[in-house]
Amino acid sequence: APEPATLVIFGVTGDLSRRKLLPAVFGLWQDGLLGSAFNIVGVGRQPMTDQEFRDYALEALKTSKETDAIQEGSLEKFRDLLYYEYGDFDTDEVYDRVGTRLDEAEEAHGGRKNAVFYLSTPPSLFQPISAGLGRLGLQNETEGWRRLIIEKPFGRDLESARALNDAIHSDWDEEQIYRIDHYLGKETVQNLMAIRFGNAIFEPLWNRSYVDHVQITAAEDLGLEGRAGYYEEAGIIRDMLQNHLMQLFTLVAMEPPVASDANAIRDEKVKVLRAVKPIPAEHVSESAVRGQYGAGTLYGERVPGYREEPNVKAESSTPTYVAVKLEVDNWRWQGVPFFIRTGKRLPKKVTEIAVVFKRPPLGLFPGGLERNVLAFRIQPDEGVSLKFSSKTPGQENALREVTMDFRYDAFGAGLESPYSRLVLDAMLGDATLFPREDEVDHAWQIVSGLLEAWDGKPAPEFPNYNSGTWGPEAADQLMGPDRRWRRL
Ligand code: BG6
Repeated sequence: APEPATLVIFGVTGDLSRRKLLPAVFGLWQDGLLGSAFNIVGVGRQPMTDQEFRDYALEALKTSKETDAIQEGSLEKFRDLLYYEYGDFDTDEVYDRVGTRLDEAEEAHGGRKNAVFYLSTPPSLFQPISAGLGRLGLQNETEGWRRLIIEKPFGRDLESARALNDAIHSDWDEEQIYRIDHYLGKETVQNLMAIRFGNAIFEPLWNRSYVDHVQITAAEDLGLEGRAGYYEEAGIIRDMLQNHLMQLFTLVAMEPPVASDANAIRDEKVKVLRAVKPIPAEHVSESAVRGQYGAGTLYGERVPGYREEPNVKAESSTPTYVAVKLEVDNWRWQGVPFFIRTGKRLPKKVTEIAVVFKRPPLGLFPGGLERNVLAFRIQPDEGVSLKFSSKTPGQENALREVTMDFRYDAFGAGLESPYSRLVLDAMLGDATLFPREDEVDHAWQIVSGLLEAWDGKPAPEFPNYNSGTWGPEAADQLMGPDRRWRRL
């Protein structure tokens, strides 16, 4: 268990905190994973008393789908651990009062003032809050450790991400900063490295000699969910591609690390990001396709197009879909394309990574010469499957594709929320699953050309896919004549 500590959540009344973060922290606490002394200080802009905040938080726990089964009496005990502060994030008072809360917890926390500050706020507040904490010296580790968790997106392009890093570093050391990407907290995502480097049979095939291409899909059936204010500014590239999809790509493509510690792993992740061939703005049309959903039918119901969603501009050029082909200039992957696609309002929610192998060199049997596929089902229906050809029983030696399948159900336990894993790791001081400064920087470099080519530019082709379909047709052409997106 971590040492006694206070978790300070900025933006505690926001959506993420209510739906995911508070339930995850409650789950950890209820399972006894947060140690004997722990408390939460929620911070927001709206005035509330501790009592009101406690009511609010308990209501959130009772209504969130993410909350674990609540044990008898545990909500009442958890309630007593909650405090609230509010104020203007540009002035000092609110940080001063947060500091006082840490002082007050000192005795119960064995004389320590350990704290994790979680910035679950709109991105525009990351800098003011980290600076405010800095002005009051709350990042100072003389009386206990101090850590800063920062939500995504980290910056809105390469330049602003660098400026944000510089600004935060004027008060905080890199070792204190935990940039969160919740995909890294997913069990199935952690399993990518485990399967690659914990077995002998995969790695020898994991290169240009045997792999034809790799496909990464993160499809969502959801649309905007009332988030126009954020999404109109962000779009799919900042919301998904630069972070979640780049992380998945990195874990599939990286070299084996020399050790399992945070920096050894992150060094390898940075190395492969560096090897990605830049896509200059003027060549984006050859390597990437953008899309925006129109109205359509999903699960038998009519749903509106993106431009018809509340608070979206009538001529909005914000992309809700992107497909991109990445090439990796290193010895392992030369000539092996990585196709990545992600979008909203696609036919279903599914995230998958498929390593597609080359065809066998010679067809001895009728119906053969299919490509073998090793597929990592990140979510839902978590598992790993291998598709290969087998003889169909009977006189002819005809081949048919069959599948070997591993499912997480085999472990008999449900998968924990990515947020519980990541919050606990941050409290334990383990940064392995948090992208380092240079990783975020390189991920921005990779998508820079796309942003430059598309940002704010009119998109006469939009909307170019109907809700409930697999995205714009142009995304199929990206793959060339001999390859196609998997049907998921
Ligand atoms: C978030 C994005 O980071 O990830 C959302 O802001 C998206 O737009 C979500 O829906 C997807 O996460 P998950 O875990 O549901 O795949």
